[in-house]
Amino acid sequence: MAENKIFVERIKELRNEHGISQQELSDKSGVSISIIKLVEARRSGSTKENFQKIADYFKVPLKEIYWEDYRDSTIISITNSKGGCAKTTLVANLSYELSLLDKRVLMVDGDLQCNLSNSYRVEFDVNKSIYKALMDTEVNQHCPDVTNYIIPTGYENLDILAGHYEMATIDADLSKKRRSEDVLKYLMQPLIDKHYYDFIIFDSNTTLGTFNENIMTITNEVIIPVEMSPFGVSGLYKLLTFIRLNMMQNPDLNIFGLFRTKVDNRYNMTKKANILLEKSIEGSSNLQILDVFLSTDSNVSESQLSRLPLSLYVKKAKKQSKAVEEMKKLAKEVLEYVEKQEE
Ligand SMILES: Nc1ncnc2c1ncn2[C@@H]1O[C@H](COP(=O)(O)OP(=O)(O)OP(=O)(O)O)[C@@H](O)[C@H]1O
Ligand SMILES: [Mg+2]
Repeated sequence: MAENKIFVERIKELRNEHGISQQELSDKSGVSISIIKLVEARRSGSTKENFQKIADYFKVPLKEIYWEDYRDSTIISITNSKGGCAKTTLVANLSYELSLLDKRVLMVDGDLQCNLSNSYRVEFDVNKSIYKALMDTEVNQHCPDVTNYIIPTGYENLDILAGHYEMATIDADLSKKRRSEDVLKYLMQPLIDKHYYDFIIFDSNTTLGTFNENIMTITNEVIIPVEMSPFGVSGLYKLLTFIRLNMMQNPDLNIFGLFRTKVDNRYNMTKKANILLEKSIEGSSNLQILDVFLSTDSNVSESQLSRLPLSLYVKKAKKQSKAVEEMKKLAKEVLEYVEKQEE
């Protein structure tokens, strides 16, 4: 999460490389000895100006020892090979709720029908799309600046790498490239290294193909939305196998949990689907069904029609909505989990 980060070890290292004591660093940089002692003992921070003085003395960029507004990007993918299980709904609204909690969020539209970009009032322009950014990338040869393709959504803290209808052929297009499964990682790594976003959240498509494989190479947490219907619950094993195979290439890949969607406890079907879901993951270690879920709520499609985030739509329409509370709850849970990981 956002913080002013001090690279204490690097400061000590630089001091050793220059063969100078804390007192000498103080004399030469003009920063008081007490501050240098406290910083190196990790007992206090200091001002940007003081770190600049130290960086100037060592002739290194400021970011080597001090980074203002440093954010560790957690990369979340909302993935399920089952169509219509609310992947896009979840990306659009989890991202929005996290942005309301003061987190800086980038959404990436991996839905080949561009439904995520449609959920926000983003103009379609192939030159400003994740598709073009990927097509412009050649692993180890050419990495375009991905920030040139990012579009602000108009909401504070919330940006998007939009989709384009050209994406329909993305698996085939990526397959023609060298190291086809690494293209996204090569493109995104410089952005991740910028420590600008708290969250990068990927929507995905229903194939278990090259593009989704690319997404898995940089994902930290997968959330699997599962529609509470008999078909919604079936076929999960194939997806889980796909994710687990990708875990071998990406050791940071974890399944955050199964997130039940279109839950309607008035219907027996939801209860039956719950039982089916529990059965289908019996024996799968480290796989949890999240307590929080998304209820069936007509405000969801109404908000999509209005191209507004759900909670904003509900607020403007002065309506009540269970789904809004559930999305807020999920955002808080994700945040608490990430903050715990960072402790
Ligand atoms: N909680 C909900 N209540 C009612 N309808 C919902 C809910 N969540 C999603 N829907 C509706 O279900 C449909 C599918 O949702 P969505 O597009 O988010 O799924 P998806 O998994 O992204 O689909 P695809 O696989 O085609 O990309 C949409 O019409 C959406 O409005
Ligand atoms: Mg979708």
